[in-house]
Amino acid sequence: MSVLWRKMITGTSVLVAVNTLVVFIYLWRDARCPLNRREQAPAPWPPLRPCVFARDQAENRLSTIQRIQNDSRTPYDECVMVRKIRQDEQSIIPFVPREAFQQTLSRVAIQHSCNQNDATQPARIVFGSRWNEIRERRQVAKSRHNNRTLDFRDSGQYVESWSPLSYPASLRVSPGNITKLEGIRVAWLEEYVSDFWLKEVRLSCHHGSLVFSADVPDVTVTGDNSSDVTVASFSIHHLNRQLEFLHYHSVSEKTLATDEVHVQVGSYTATVTIRIQHFLMFHLYDHGEDKFVKDRVTVITKTYLRYSVLRKLIDSVNQYFPGIKIIVADDSDKFEELGDYKNVDHYKMPAQKGWFAGRNLALSQVSTEYFFWLDDDMVFTEKTGLKFMMNFLDETGYHIVGGRLEDSELTFAQRYDYVPSSTDDGGCLSRKEGSYRVIPGFPSCTSTDIVLNVFMGATQTVRAVGFEPNPVYARAAHSEFFADGLGKFRVASCTNVEVKHLGDTSNRSYNKARHTGGTLNYYKLKYIYFRNNLFNLLIK
Ligand SMILES: *[C@@H]1O[C@H](CO)[C@@H](O)[C@H](O)[C@H]1NC(C)=O
Ligand SMILES: *[C@@H]1O[C@H](CO)[C@@H](O)[C@H](O)[C@H]1NC(C)=O
Ligand SMILES: *[C@@H]1O[C@H](CO)[C@@H](O)[C@H](O)[C@H]1NC(C)=O
Ligand SMILES: *[C@@H]1O[C@H](CO)[C@@H](O)[C@H](O)[C@H]1NC(C)=O
Ligand SMILES: *[C@@H]1O[C@H](CO)[C@@H](O)[C@H](O)[C@H]1NC(C)=O
Repeated sequence: MSVLWRKMITGTSVLVAVNTLVVFIYLWRDARCPLNRREQAPAPWPPLRPCVFARDQAENRLSTIQRIQNDSRTPYDECVMVRKIRQDEQSIIPFVPREAFQQTLSRVAIQHSCNQNDATQPARIVFGSRWNEIRERRQVAKSRHNNRTLDFRDSGQYVESWSPLSYPASLRVSPGNITKLEGIRVAWLEEYVSDFWLKEVRLSCHHGSLVFSADVPDVTVTGDNSSDVTVASFSIHHLNRQLEFLHYHSVSEKTLATDEVHVQVGSYTATVTIRIQHFLMFHLYDHGEDKFVKDRVTVITKTYLRYSVLRKLIDSVNQYFPGIKIIVADDSDKFEELGDYKNVDHYKMPAQKGWFAGRNLALSQVSTEYFFWLDDDMVFTEKTGLKFMMNFLDETGYHIVGGRLEDSELTFAQRYDYVPSSTDDGGCLSRKEGSYRVIPGFPSCTSTDIVLNVFMGATQTVRAVGFEPNPVYARAAHSEFFADGLGKFRVASCTNVEVKHLGDTSNRSYNKARHTGGTLNYYKLKYIYFRNNLFNLLIK
């Protein structure tokens, strides 16, 4: 009560006027909504829900229902009559732009701007008459890029029901820049809150300054250009008008962070999430004029002492996709030259650096949009449909698509479940056969989490996950990579793409290095216990 009255104007004549008006409003409201009858004046902005009336439902009928539901409550406790605040009423209120803000804004804008016309000028010169054609191709590449970009809008926000506030759920601002906090307004008001009651909106944040670009008459702003601002007015329309000019200035030293603007009106609060983050740069790949597989895919593999099968692989690739780039990462103890292949890059690594180290090296050298991974003891056949996989990734926005081995019973799709733990014990990862769903338009493909050692991947996305070159993953590892990618890439498995598995265990040095027995799993488990904060790994 005392808070309420303190906020009222103190002039005696105004008080008399207020009292008269309050009495009048009581009488007028009671005539319209019997629910609102009450013994004493309520605090403004009580945390009540508004009365909701179906369009064709008599007000009294609903009131009766509510009364019957809980007799012990006063009818007023059940709901409160509200009136919607019309936006057109605020738009006619005049405002005075702030000189200081305009100066700050233009200073900041210059700092954070980039002249688009100047920026494209060099491109026009470089491409000459082909500029338009290149630009169109780039648009298509951008569409592919956007299709596979995972854009997680801030989710899991709690929104209070019956809040009288309208507000944007989330916004982004570049570090140092200013953005308009558009859309914050009081959208409804209790009917009895007349123009003689002071209405206040309090706004606060952590990493920024809240600043207004204009002043509205009959509105008091306190703490302007700080992280804690209060806007007050007797007129809800003036208050809303003032909020139209609210800006968030990112002034923190943090260039990548989230801030929260808390908005409070009466006992209601709302939170606007602000992401302080640069715009993300594109990394696009030109698909060329004819979308040839050889211009868009690189074949990568890793070898160790298996030159005879490796040569068969290279020959088979050249037979089906002549000229396609092949990258071989080789950590043999003694190197052999591969032969006279112009399309093969042979990377010689320190001896026995291992499996994931080699995969990582090979992938790091890929400069096409996609790569196709297979083991050195596999060969291409007419069923190695790289074009199919390429189109699949283009069209679906998946990041990885796996194939299968000819004449093999090996499962080509497995699923993971990772459950983080709330205790210090760590989470649990379980692996099992199967996939999720058939992918629309591709009846031979299903979504899954793990595929075989035969897959095409989107270079940027897979490289961002990478193959951990730790010695623990030097001899045998595969699913570990897909565990690292959980939640970071989309994986599909298609049964219509095959390679032939030759296998080669003829070299004794190879076998010795490869098959280190049970101790390996022991080290792996020890490793992931720490690295992945795991308590358990279940293979079902
Ligand atoms: C009725 O309202 C009173 C007071 O708000 C509350 O204590 C009681 O639990 C309510 N009863 C029912 C049945 O909802
Ligand atoms: C806010 O305050 C800062 C530093 O006190 C000043 O540089 C800036 O110009 C002010 N912004 C506006 C819009 O007045
Ligand atoms: C900075 O903010 C202005 C106004 O909100 C916007 O037009 C501009 O694109 C922003 N610049 C950057 C780099 O974010
Ligand atoms: C991106 O996805 C849309 C909708 O799934 C699809 O129509 C479009 O062809 C895709 N873009 C490219 C370049 O494949
Ligand atoms: C294994 O392969 C390497 C490289 O080709 C070769 O030098 C070595 O002699 C082979 N060892 C055996 C036991 O075949």
